[in-house]
Amino acid sequence: MGVAVSGWRLARAVSVTGQLGVVSGTAIGVVLARRLQDGDPGGNMRRALASFPDQAVASRILERYFRADGRQGDRPYRAVPVPRWRSNRQFLELTVAGSFTEVFLAKEGHTGQVGINLLEKIQMPTLPALYGAMLAGVDWVLMGAGIPVHIPPALTELAAHRPATIPLTVTGAESSDDFQLHFDPAATIATTGASLPVPRFLAIVSSNVLAAHLARSEEGRPWGFVVERPTAGGHNAPPRGRLTLSEHGEPVYGPRDEIDLAQLRELGLPFWLAGGYGNPQRLREAQEHGACGVQVGTAFALCEESGLAPELKARAREQAAHGILEVRTDPSASPTGYPFKVARLAGTAANPLADPARRRRRCDLGYLTVPYRRESGQLGYRCPAEPEDDYVSKGGDPADIDGRLCLCNGLMAAAGMPQSRTGSGVEPPLLTLGDDIHGVLAALSPDGRPYHAADVVSHLLAG
Ligand SMILES: Cc1cc2nc3c(=O)[nH]c(=O)nc-3n(C[C@H](O)[C@H](O)[C@H](O)COP(=O)(O)O)c2cc1C
Repeated sequence: MGVAVSGWRLARAVSVTGQLGVVSGTAIGVVLARRLQDGDPGGNMRRALASFPDQAVASRILERYFRADGRQGDRPYRAVPVPRWRSNRQFLELTVAGSFTEVFLAKEGHTGQVGINLLEKIQMPTLPALYGAMLAGVDWVLMGAGIPVHIPPALTELAAHRPATIPLTVTGAESSDDFQLHFDPAATIATTGASLPVPRFLAIVSSNVLAAHLARSEEGRPWGFVVERPTAGGHNAPPRGRLTLSEHGEPVYGPRDEIDLAQLRELGLPFWLAGGYGNPQRLREAQEHGACGVQVGTAFALCEESGLAPELKARAREQAAHGILEVRTDPSASPTGYPFKVARLAGTAANPLADPARRRRRCDLGYLTVPYRRESGQLGYRCPAEPEDDYVSKGGDPADIDGRLCLCNGLMAAAGMPQSRTGSGVEPPLLTLGDDIHGVLAALSPDGRPYHAADVVSHLLAG
């Protein structure tokens, strides 16, 4: 999970080279709201919103969030509605418009293909985010961190502007409960258009079992797979079996975590490999194993077009060039409980010398909250990175709390849009990168100097 790192600029730069550029759809409504509050330099958000099919929605968003002069000093960003089972109109409109804007800009001025990436685990914004991307003509949808078996049928419904439904996972739900996420496009956005093309769907998997399960599904069969190894940046699948930690406190992966590519090939669906494939030798190797290609994150994250805050990017490149940038697979940082890769840079939430307790816990973006069933049968929402007392009072296990970082705020800050609050300062950024950061930069930026997305693509294809 990254927020706006693979933003429209990076996806566009990759797409114009003839490869598939992918925008991140995570917290995309917040990204749009904050860019508008920062004055929308260059007018890109407003240009995209001018093409949004429902101009009344676009106007409401501009009125609410656009500040021509940006925020004054460290004034806080305006609060945005948090995701809920039955999200309010404002949330739905902002999410549809957010992913529309991102895909619209990534596709602007060329004929290349663009995809959008969403995490299955972040369920509540999924349908409006997909619909907004489809209104902008997204060509591919990529989804991991869960079992995305309900997505292909939802894409078919949304393409016809029909209501779509996916199940909501609720902790403590009883067998008689029926928590579904329902999104009716026509109730949110006025569109008069014909049916939209159905994007191709790639499921991101880390095991043969999940790949086989999805491939067997009649309705939920993906077009293909991205197979992600635990060296990849962002979240990683946990190791199979009992969790063992190394002497450095990192999850230990073994042969059982290796995907069997021969078995995968037998499923007969196209696949791409990810996790440490950011060089020409590994690309060739992947192709020799029958892959169509590779998915690369780390090499692009530090290029000029990525959405990471320029200062953070430059520091990460410099430290990597000196061989001192440490990337750690943290078993407890992510509220999801999945291992999460953190770059241990000074001034970030993952600085080894920082005391995480110094950041006052709060949960105001809420993308990783988990819905749980209260005794009354109503839904509550909790996140192990929220204030401890709140989490426990909502029935959360105190054992879940230790070491959790607020990914929502940390990743927004890494994308240059940190919340600032009177009295408690500015949210520190959190940077995720893959294990192969040194290998990647040795080829692309041995001296720490800037490089471009096109350099990454030509390096990969040079072999
Ligand atoms: C900064 C960053 C953010 C990422 N964000 C996401 C994300 O939001 N969703 C996702 O499925 N994968 C995400 N990834 C993983 C990439 O999509 C890709 O699979 C991975 O980076 C490939 O391995 P590599 O890092 O060795 O290139 C992210 C990776 C990085 C480095």
